[in-house]
Amino acid sequence: MPIEIEVNGQRYPINYPPETPLLYVLRDELRLTGTKYGCGEGQCGACTVLLGGAPRRSCQIPVSAAAGKPVTTIEGLEKDGRLHPVQQAFLDAGAFQCAYCTSGMIMRSVGLLQSNSNPSQAEVVQFLQGNVCRCGTHPRIMEAVRHAAKMVQEHGR
Ligand code: FES
Repeated sequence: MPIEIEVNGQRYPINYPPETPLLYVLRDELRLTGTKYGCGEGQCGACTVLLGGAPRRSCQIPVSAAAGKPVTTIEGLEKDGRLHPVQQAFLDAGAFQCAYCTSGMIMRSVGLLQSNSNPSQAEVVQFLQGNVCRCGTHPRIMEAVRHAAKMVQEHGR
């Protein structure tokens, strides 16, 4: 019997072994390739998605564990043709170079702002420290998250 998962508001029957990493299902079955495969070992954060509203590393989550909990990927953030404030802030700040880490950084930042809409610089650094950027764009990422926090406080989401 297939596992049913909900991704970006849509339900999908999944005929994969239950232990298959959610990351593989998102990318290979659902073609949601905005979620990146980095290390595959839970170390880099490139594969971060929201699971039940909380940021999680999808390479470390068996697809069976996603049943009954809504999954949000980078593709599901935009609403009514408008980018999520965190996406917009990353664009405005140019908070990427190669951009391989960007999806994971954005999803983790969305998770942070959902639980704390006015994080201090230290809290942003602590929350994002497990997400690796090899291009060294962390200062611009910090700027983007601060800018996004202001937008979320002013306009919601
Ligand atoms: Fe999942 Fe690196 S690919 S943490």
